[in-house]
Amino acid sequence: MTPTLEARHITKIYGEDDKKVVAVDDVTLALHAGEVLLIMGPSGSGKTTLLSMMGCILRPTHGQLFVSGQEVSTLHETQLPKIRRQHMGFVFQAFNLFPALTAVENVEVILRLKGYDRSTMRSKASALLSSVGLSKRAHAYPMDLSGGEKQRTAFARALAGDPPILLADEPTGNLDSRTGMEVLRLLRDLACDLSKSIAIVSHDPKAEALAHRVVFLEDGRLKQ
Ligand SMILES: Nc1ncnc2c1ncn2[C@@H]1O[C@H](COP(=O)(O)OP(=O)(O)OP(=O)(O)O)[C@@H](O)[C@H]1O
Ligand SMILES: [Mg+2]
Repeated sequence: MTPTLEARHITKIYGEDDKKVVAVDDVTLALHAGEVLLIMGPSGSGKTTLLSMMGCILRPTHGQLFVSGQEVSTLHETQLPKIRRQHMGFVFQAFNLFPALTAVENVEVILRLKGYDRSTMRSKASALLSSVGLSKRAHAYPMDLSGGEKQRTAFARALAGDPPILLADEPTGNLDSRTGMEVLRLLRDLACDLSKSIAIVSHDPKAEALAHRVVFLEDGRLKQ
């Protein structure tokens, strides 16, 4: 079966000369449908950089990346948003919510792109928010949400486009233990029931228990 996402010998080098940092060094890995892959490693080991390359947010300095069998590492920068829109859902802390929109409206933005009518959009957005335990705060603005609530809104938004691949950086980082467990179970259900491909970066031991596969990064390299 063709992997949903495949990285072949990808490397990311930031800066030049004495400022050069090899953040990810010759990483080869594949992500399949129905799988939750957990990426672990110490701070600065290249986890976010790797996930960003897998999500076509950051281009590898060297190496190849394939999304559903299509090589994307050779595509022009301007073609990447389309790849991201069709294939990826992101939960990155840097991917902020729209401050002028409520939680439910933040989710609706993605549904609107899919062409749903207003009432279907609202009921789908509400269902997504309730799946992340946020129905009570659906009409709150991001500035009035806690860190964990913002993160859960970001999850609902990432799921709204129904992407085959979901990438999450520290998805339980701001959540209390119980909510974190719920989010992880939700991810596992999405992989098992809907055949999503999910890659998460986490230090959370609960994530280790729920993931199908764990890889470790150290100084940008995969530890075998
Ligand atoms: N834009 C950048 N320019 C230069 N160096 C960078 C940049 N982004 C990250 N780095 C460096 O690349 C290395 C890997 O960073 P990355 O953010 O991928 O690590 P991480 O494993 O996600 O760490 P953390 O667990 O702290 O989030 C680090 O040494 C970091 O300082
Ligand atoms: Mg990081």
